[in-house]
Amino acid sequence: MAVLEAEGISKRFGRLQAVEDVSLRVEAGDVYGFLGPNGAGKTTAIRMMLGLIAPSSGRARIFGRDVQTDFKRAIVNVGAMVEGPAFYGYLTARRNLRLFGLISGGVSEQRIDDVLQLVGLGRRGDQKVSAYSHGMRQRLGIALALLERPRLLVLDEPTNGLDPQGMREIRNLIRRIRDEEGTTIFLSSHLLGELEQICDRIGIIFRGRLLREGRLDDLLGERVAIVELRVPADEGERARNLLSEKFGIEAEILRRGHLEFPGDRTDPAVLNRSLLANGVEVSAISMRRQTLEEYFVELTGTSQEIY
Ligand SMILES: Nc1ncnc2c1ncn2[C@@H]1O[C@H](COP(=O)(O)OP(=O)(O)OP(=O)(O)O)[C@@H](O)[C@H]1O
Ligand SMILES: [Mg+2]
Repeated sequence: MAVLEAEGISKRFGRLQAVEDVSLRVEAGDVYGFLGPNGAGKTTAIRMMLGLIAPSSGRARIFGRDVQTDFKRAIVNVGAMVEGPAFYGYLTARRNLRLFGLISGGVSEQRIDDVLQLVGLGRRGDQKVSAYSHGMRQRLGIALALLERPRLLVLDEPTNGLDPQGMREIRNLIRRIRDEEGTTIFLSSHLLGELEQICDRIGIIFRGRLLREGRLDDLLGERVAIVELRVPADEGERARNLLSEKFGIEAEILRRGHLEFPGDRTDPAVLNRSLLANGVEVSAISMRRQTLEEYFVELTGTSQEIY
């Protein structure tokens, strides 16, 4: 049985088809990344999957229970943070958690301590939320979602607006939650590199449609897709011209002396010899598979335009 399953969910807002026929499946133990640019339909799809808004068509199930017809039982084991948590600023973090815990009949002080600890707010729990930074609020939002030991944790853009350090901490936190609490995690992001680093499986949503779903390794494949070449800083142009003339390779200069090109064609040893023969010293050649970002651009075309 899938932990979370959407079957052909769609949502229309007036003339806008925000989500169209999305089907996806999250299995127990997955860290599932829901990836898509701004306006792709992530939050709308998540709201439908959690039973917070009704789909125009399709259905969603959590632990086998329909979120529309069996809402209470479907979401009993779910913790969620959807689009920026709202807290009472004049209360401390601890009192906020206590208050939200009351809605479901109360949680123990021990559990409140534990979740504050887990998200790294152990020492700041008695401070008013109005004095929290954005990153601290995100963490408190995750603490709240975790309060009742959910078996499924749904986080809509948990790293939104955080600095790289904050993002890394949230990533580590998500790994810790998976390992220590054994929680299945579904998170959305528009940041490809983010999801690439923590997710086992991803679904890519674009203009309301799910374009791909699968294991990250299967989607990106193992094939070497990109060759990176380093030459002296002032030789970049010359190296690029040589690659173009001699091999028909269209390389891109990323930084001075730092070139990159698709790598399924010419033997790197041959390239190296040829460049050297023409007086360009190569200090490094490396090969790597496509990043999720490159895959995404290839899949969707490069348009960043919001649909
Ligand atoms: N209540 C609403 N009424 C009308 N249009 C809406 C509503 N909610 C969302 N939309 C539209 O639906 C589309 C998808 O929005 P959604 O919030 O699901 O995108 P998203 O992928 O979460 O984007 P972001 O990365 O910016 O959070 C957008 O074009 C948005 O303007
Ligand atoms: Mg959103």
